[in-house]
Amino acid sequence: MAHPRPVELQINGEAFALRLEPRVTLLDALREHAGLTGTKKGCDQGQCGACTVHVDGERVLACLTLAVQVEGREVTTIEGLAAADGTLDRVQRAFIEEDAFQCGYCTPGQIMSAVACIREGHAGSDDEIREFMAGNLCRCGAYPNIVAAVRRAAEEAA
Ligand code: FES
Ligand code: FES
Repeated sequence: MAHPRPVELQINGEAFALRLEPRVTLLDALREHAGLTGTKKGCDQGQCGACTVHVDGERVLACLTLAVQVEGREVTTIEGLAAADGTLDRVQRAFIEEDAFQCGYCTPGQIMSAVACIREGHAGSDDEIREFMAGNLCRCGAYPNIVAAVRRAAEEAA
């Protein structure tokens, strides 16, 4: 059994001094050690996208990332998306306005993915949005509304 060692993570602009075994994923570090449960575990094998977060501004699957790999890098989770005064990010707003979720379990990952998708310039058309959001599964079938939300947020961003 590996021994826990100090791991310092930068999450949503805050430093978290944790003690983790090297095998602990970023997903479990966020949920079980940092107390940030917004990032969800739908499969733990890289197949559903529910665990999508940003590392240095790029979307990654937290279940396939070890916490020790992101030491010294900037991690952003769904909890870090709204402004300090509580104003929602435009993608969060668009998801509410377009009814782009039902149970909400895939939603944090969808939103983190959508923010990156727009930033990457992959929200130019509905087809492009569908393709570049295809790594995020939604069992509630909210896909048409998710596409509408990403389109709305992308238009606002333009
Ligand atoms: S929990 Fe990471 S992709 Fe499903
Ligand atoms: S809103 Fe339920 S899985 Fe997507």
